[in-house]
Amino acid sequence: MTRTVYLNGDYLPETEAKVSIFDRGFLMADGVYEVTSVLDGKLIDFDGHCARLARSLRELDMAAPCSDADLLAAHRELVRLNDITDGMIYLQVTRGNPGDRDFAYPGPEVTPTLVMFTQDKPGLADNPAAKTGWRVISVPDVRWGRRDIKTTQLLYPSMAKMMAKAAKVDDSWFVEDGVVTEGTSNNAYIIKGNRIITRHLSNDILHGITRAAVLRFAAEAQMEVEERPFTVAEAQKADEAFITSASAFVMPVVEVDGVAVGSGTVGATVTRLREIYLEEMRRAAI
Ligand code: PDD
Repeated sequence: MTRTVYLNGDYLPETEAKVSIFDRGFLMADGVYEVTSVLDGKLIDFDGHCARLARSLRELDMAAPCSDADLLAAHRELVRLNDITDGMIYLQVTRGNPGDRDFAYPGPEVTPTLVMFTQDKPGLADNPAAKTGWRVISVPDVRWGRRDIKTTQLLYPSMAKMMAKAAKVDDSWFVEDGVVTEGTSNNAYIIKGNRIITRHLSNDILHGITRAAVLRFAAEAQMEVEERPFTVAEAQKADEAFITSASAFVMPVVEVDGVAVGSGTVGATVTRLREIYLEEMRRAAI
């Protein structure tokens, strides 16, 4: 089946969706994005992703391409047209096509470009990696200073993913000033006793939508939540570790820089957090 994608109000076969070479998303990475998961044909935490998109756009003085209601309708239509049961919807808004290359932003006469497409991932929530856990390495965080804005400038995270591949592990954790910021495309956590430790929100990390939900569920499950930076050495001595993202949900981390975390196998707390997250989010999906 040919994938149907969305471009500026139209639903098109993927081969027919065309964006200008002058689009600032292409020339300047002048764009923001969101990834929303689909489970059982329904959207997970759509309102959270919509709210963060609005914030990213605001921070960059970029116009919203349409209303939240229109975005919801388009997400649902893409799920329907592509017959998605489990998978993701990628959404990108760029500052559009001013017709030439210029560092200055164009005026309001240039309309944003809105692109959306589906990624079909049958059994997304049954990822076998959740049973074995990820192994990660630490790499220096040399990204820019506004990581709270979900921009499409993903070259360094891609490089860090390749460093992980070269080291034959699953992902990289970024380290700055001796402490972990986050993973290449996820937020990072350690567990010590009944306490979950994860970096506090600031411009240094993306304000994960999955993070917000997981911390809420952890507090409801009577776990302590401490929002502060942690070191790689602390992670190596933790009982358990994990990451969260819209596509991996809650994923255990069993090794950091070649050192086993806790027993080196997936622990009971992270397993329970993943179960609670999936259960609650499936219930609230729209
Ligand atoms: N990445 N930190 C970074 C740097 C991310 O790119 C992401 C998400 C997260 C987790 O955010 P959320 O829980 O809202 O997905 C944290 C998405 C999934 C991606 O780039 O594919």
